[in-house]
Amino acid sequence: RGGVIVAPSILAADFANLAAAVAEAAAAGAPWVHVDLFDNSWEACPNFTVGPPVVASLRRHTCLQLDCHLAVRDPARYVDALASAGADGLTFHWEVLGGAAEVEALARRIRGAGMRAGVALAPDTPLPEELVALAQRGEVDMVLAMTVLPGFGGQSFREGVLAKVTALRAACPGLLIQVDGGMNAATGPKAVAAGANVLVAGSFLFGHKQGLAAGMRELLGAIG
Ligand code: DX5
Ligand code: ZN
Repeated sequence: RGGVIVAPSILAADFANLAAAVAEAAAAGAPWVHVDLFDNSWEACPNFTVGPPVVASLRRHTCLQLDCHLAVRDPARYVDALASAGADGLTFHWEVLGGAAEVEALARRIRGAGMRAGVALAPDTPLPEELVALAQRGEVDMVLAMTVLPGFGGQSFREGVLAKVTALRAACPGLLIQVDGGMNAATGPKAVAAGANVLVAGSFLFGHKQGLAAGMRELLGAIG
């Protein structure tokens, strides 16, 4: 488990009880909380979740890092509001931008606003060479290889995505590589073996019969 970060995804929590959800994550020893911001503007992510006001409210309830995953058409619209809300990281999708120059510019803007800059890849998006080059040049802090389609929790893990993680890890030894979707005590070890060092888990942790802390122990125990 050395150096692996587990980020409970509050998409699987009770949206009417988010203060309790982040308190449970903190009590379980999670260093980050993963917040999915979906605004139904991108056809690849047909869901609507929460926005910057909810991140601002979470900030008042937790010291945990707020790791925001934006599966939206125009992530640039949210940079300033999320920085003001106290987000620690902003991850946007490669697919919604118009190439490496735009990705680099947005990553710089996110960092300039004081947040970690992450770039997400949907499961069927091949690993772009230009993204590898940006990561090697240190222009992005994290790459998120989605292991389910963006939009909903509770889907099954797409193991084929791990080839991207392996390739990215070989090219970028120090990079934060996040996997998100279908993570549990069986799939987590496979993702870590491929080179992932940030595991997002929603339904496995918030739906765990013995509670989130037991789920964290089970996941961390499985990855060794
Ligand atoms: C899906 C979200 C995930 C989601 C994962 O689009 O990005 O963060 O919460 O849920 P599980 O862990 O249930 O697959
Ligand atoms: Zn997510």
